Amino acid sequence: MAFGSKRVYTSLVCYSIQSFERLLSTCILLMYQSILVMALHISEASPNCTVTGIHYFCNNIATLTDLPLVLPINVRKVTLMGIYERKPSFSGERFTHHTWAKVSELSILEFTNVDRIESGFLNGLNELQFLSVSSCTHLGEIDPDTFYSTPNIEELHFNWNRVLDLSMVEAALIGKLSNLRYLYLIAIQGVKQHVVLGEKFVKALHRKNLTYLDISRVNAIYMEHILVPEVLANIVNLNLSYSSIMFPHGITDKAISLIKITCTFWILLV
Ligand SMILES: *[C@@H]1O[C@H](CO)[C@@H](O)[C@H](O)[C@H]1NC(C)=O
Ligand SMILES: *[C@@H]1O[C@H](CO)[C@@H](O)[C@H](O)[C@H]1NC(C)=O
Repeated sequence: MAFGSKRVYTSLVCYSIQSFERLLSTCILLMYQSILVMALHISEASPNCTVTGIHYFCNNIATLTDLPLVLPINVRKVTLMGIYERKPSFSGERFTHHTWAKVSELSILEFTNVDRIESGFLNGLNELQFLSVSSCTHLGEIDPDTFYSTPNIEELHFNWNRVLDLSMVEAALIGKLSNLRYLYLIAIQGVKQHVVLGEKFVKALHRKNLTYLDISRVNAIYMEHILVPEVLANIVNLNLSYSSIMFPHGITDKAISLIKITCTFWILLV
């Protein structure tokens, strides 16, 4: 464990909510979700896709074979929502028909039983600028070559994937996505005690001009010395709302004031 009891940390709580309140809302959410899942199973939902202008929207996707292989002409933005995926991973090439090559925005949401993204899954999405893989509550693994075929991504969201480890995202970013500007990792590692932002994160963001980093709603973030000059200096907006952040004693005053400013800034907006 990188953070043994020998090292002392100063804690800065960006926004504290009563843990009881948090627990209560989690229970309500879980109840709601199980009712929803039951209702969907009873009604034997089948995929339902509609097109509105350039936006193609599909919900009730139960298996990967339900994913659309060919898109209507002129579609640039696609939202795919799952209900229950019986296969364990996002695998195979699903987006290689030429109609997918023009898609610039893709959201893959609520595939609650998928635990892995395999390399090659995003093949064919050559023009992709925005990708969100969010609310996939069992997603824990991302193949390090996942973004090999999508070099143009500027905005990436991995939100509310409660078991996704930051190290998976870091490994997939190293040496790839040089155009990345906006990175959203809301509630990452929700089941773990803490998230460490350190050397590997610096490597993952090396040579990227990241301007927005959202790492809000994380129980505890440990920030290492190295991160501050290397990464935070370039980030214009850092969202730490509802997160608590800890950094080692001895960090420079400048670094502390930077963290406080960015942190306070977002509290004012929440
Ligand atoms: C990052 O920004 C700097 C300064 O604005 C620029 O010189 C550099 O080319 C940019 N790098 C990338 C990968 O866009
Ligand atoms: C910052 O994060 C919080 C919590 O996730 C969110 O409600 C808020 O909209 C975010 N702020 C911005 C400017 O995106």
